[in-house]
Amino acid sequence: MRERILVTGGAGYIGSNIAAALCKRPATDVLVVDDFSSGDWRNLVHVDCEVRACNCDDPALLDEIADGAFSAIYHEAAITDTTVMNQRLMIEANTNAFAMLLEASSMSGTRVVYASSAGTYGNSPAPNKVGSGEEPENIYGFSKLAMDRIAYRWYDRHPAPLIGLRYFNVFGPGETHKNERDGNKTASMILQLYEQMKSGRNPRLFKYGEQMRDFVYIRDVINANLAALNAPRSGVCNVGSGQARTFNDIVHITAETLGIDAKIEYMDNPHTFYQNHTEADVSDSHALLGWQPEWSLENGMKEYITLLEKGHRGPLETA
Ligand SMILES: NC(=O)c1ccc[n+]([C@@H]2O[C@H](COP(=O)([O-])OP(=O)(O)OC[C@H]3O[C@@H](n4cnc5c(N)ncnc54)[C@H](O)[C@@H]3O)[C@@H](O)[C@H]2O)c1
Repeated sequence: MRERILVTGGAGYIGSNIAAALCKRPATDVLVVDDFSSGDWRNLVHVDCEVRACNCDDPALLDEIADGAFSAIYHEAAITDTTVMNQRLMIEANTNAFAMLLEASSMSGTRVVYASSAGTYGNSPAPNKVGSGEEPENIYGFSKLAMDRIAYRWYDRHPAPLIGLRYFNVFGPGETHKNERDGNKTASMILQLYEQMKSGRNPRLFKYGEQMRDFVYIRDVINANLAALNAPRSGVCNVGSGQARTFNDIVHITAETLGIDAKIEYMDNPHTFYQNHTEADVSDSHALLGWQPEWSLENGMKEYITLLEKGHRGPLETA
């Protein structure tokens, strides 16, 4: 019997990486649904899946979910630009749509793996642990926390597990489109600094580059998503490397990998809200998923930069 798996937001960064990995599994068909508001068709050129342009809460799609058309759902679709301040728009796109999707999946008993975010922790002291310090500082982070709360309310009534993955700062192949949008560049700092340095400019950081983030390589993120297919129960867990590193570290690793010297330009931070230290506590993730991060920042960046240097731009499994 072939399985059919739905990936919402599958033209985006993480969604296309999940779709590409699923296509490599035996007897698996993938339907990617995307409204192409921030995703890019080029991510799917080498992914042999079915593609449909529509909203993730499209009524016909919800009917298919309720009828049991899919063996599992990956829900990655969202407004992902964290600088969007329109509160109603953010909640409608991220939270309301998820609530409708769960209503439909509850009817067929379909497993749902969905993207939450480290944004739910705001600037709470690290290490960040699910269930504590959930103090989002922008509407994006709040929309994700609201998703987790909706999921909690379904746990006892939903016939199949609901798995929320709180991604930290994901980096790796497949995110190039996020730097090609008009206006805001939303790709990882790793890609932004690589592009600055490749174009011969000095890397620019907010003073003095010592802010710490948990950067997690896309290979670990894909593996966490695949592991979630077998999670025995519902839950929310962190998907991070478990280690906080500085932006200065990123510049040094990039310079070393490219074999160039880098002179960092430090500038004032104009943002009123800025996460200064994120670091995932991944002990619960191991308990729920049987997964743990395996890629260090150095190893992930080396593989990523090597692929960028070869001109690769799509998801990892298509390299
Ligand atoms: N990249 C990260 O570091 C990171 C960190 C934390 C959480 N996340 C979450 O992971 C998920 C994937 O993010 P990403 O980095 O791949 O971003 P992305 O912008 O590349 O992907 C999001 C995709 O969803 C699509 N989309 C948006 N609204 C839609 C709608 N209403 N219906 C259908 N499709 C819609 C977009 O067109 C895009 O293809 C998101 O839910 C995001 O909030 C990402």
